[in-house]
Amino acid sequence: MIRPGRDTDAADFIALIGACWGEYPGCILDVDGEVPELRALATYFRDQGGALWVAEQDGRVVGMIGTRPLKEDAAWEICRMYVDAAARGSGLAAALLDTAEAHARAAGAERMILWTDTRFIRAHGFYEKFGYVRQGSIRILDDISNSLEFRYTKPAAGLVVEALDAAGAASAERRLAALLTDCVADGASLTFLPPLSRDRALGFWKATSAAVAAGHRVLLVAWLDGRLAGSVILDLATEETTPQVASIRTLMVDPAARRRSIGRALMRRAEQAARAHGRRLVTLDARAGSAAESLYRAEAWTELGRIPDFEVDAQRRSCDTVFLWKAL
Ligand SMILES: CC(C)(COP(=O)(O)OP(=O)(O)OC[C@H]1O[C@@H](n2cnc3c(N)ncnc32)[C@H](O)[C@@H]1OP(=O)(O)O)[C@@H](O)C(=O)NCCC(=O)NCCS
Repeated sequence: MIRPGRDTDAADFIALIGACWGEYPGCILDVDGEVPELRALATYFRDQGGALWVAEQDGRVVGMIGTRPLKEDAAWEICRMYVDAAARGSGLAAALLDTAEAHARAAGAERMILWTDTRFIRAHGFYEKFGYVRQGSIRILDDISNSLEFRYTKPAAGLVVEALDAAGAASAERRLAALLTDCVADGASLTFLPPLSRDRALGFWKATSAAVAAGHRVLLVAWLDGRLAGSVILDLATEETTPQVASIRTLMVDPAARRRSIGRALMRRAEQAARAHGRRLVTLDARAGSAAESLYRAEAWTELGRIPDFEVDAQRRSCDTVFLWKAL
C-alpha cells in the first residue's frame, strides 16, 4: 500500500535509509549531524511545496519517495527513494516513482531531476530504465560518507527531443538497447535481425556513446510524458571530400508509442543538428514500403533510387532498399 508519509514514520525512515546506505561501504547515516529533517520528513516536504509517500507491507514501511519543486526551469526533484532489500524486484520501486512523477507532472513539472550517490549502482540502472539520463558534472557533498553524486534528469511532460552528450549517452545505453531489441523483434529495418541479444544491442549503443564522445555522431533522444520512447543518430563522420554531408541512421520509436509524431520530431531535430554542424545535405536509406519510407516522403525527402533485393527482413525475405536525400 502506498500512502502519504507522516512525521511519525521517522523511526521507520531512519531504519530503512540506514539499511540501504549500509549496503555500500563508507556510507554512514548521521541523522542529527547531517539529516535532522528525517525526524519530521512530511513537514519538511510540505514546507517546500512537495510531497512524501511510503509503501507499507504488513504494517511495516518497506519503501519511500519524496518530490519537491525546485526554483528554476519548472523542475521537480525526486528525493529519498529507498526500497527495502526484500521488497526489490517486485515493481514497488516503479510504483513509488510513478506516484511521485505523476504528482510532479500534475503540479506543472516540465523536468524531473535527481541526485544519486556514485556508489549506488543498482539505483542508476533503475533510474536509467525509467528514462533518466546523466547530466553535468559530479556533485561533492563534503559529508562524513565522502559522498559524490551524479545528477540525472529527464523531461517530465509532453514530447521533447534532446541531444545527449557522452555522459548522457552512456547512461542511456541500457534503455536504448531495450528499445532497439523491441524494434528489431517488431521487424524493424535497423541492420540487425531478431532475436537481438541484450549484449549485442548494448555493444551497439556503447560504440555510439564512444562516437558521441569523439564528436563523430550526435545522439538525439525523444521522451513522451517522461518515457524515453525513441532516438535517432546523426552521423557526421563523412569523407574529407564531402564535408557538407551527414547521414541519418537508426531512427526508432517504441512500437507502443508509434504514430504520435515522435519519429517526425526526431527527424526535424536531426536536420536542425545537421545544419548546426554546418551540413547542407543529409542522406539515409530505408526498407521499401516501410513506415520509415512513408515518414521520409512525408518530410519531403527526395528519392535517389532503389536497389532491388538489397536487404532481408526478419523472415529472411529479400526486400528493396530506397536511398533518399534532402538539401537543408
Ligand atoms: C519509422 C518510425 C520511426 C516512425 O515513427 P513514428 O513516431 O510512428 O512516426 P510519426 O508518428 O512521427 O509519423 C510521421 C508521419 O510518417 C508517416 N508514417 C509513420 N508511420 C507510418 C505507417 N506505419 N504507415 C504509413 N505512414 C506512416 C505518416 O505520414 C506520419 O504522419 P501522420 O501520422 O500525420 O499520418 C517507426 O515506425 C519505427 O520506429 N519503425 C521501426 C524502425 C525503423 O524502421 N527505422 C527506420 C530505419 S531507416
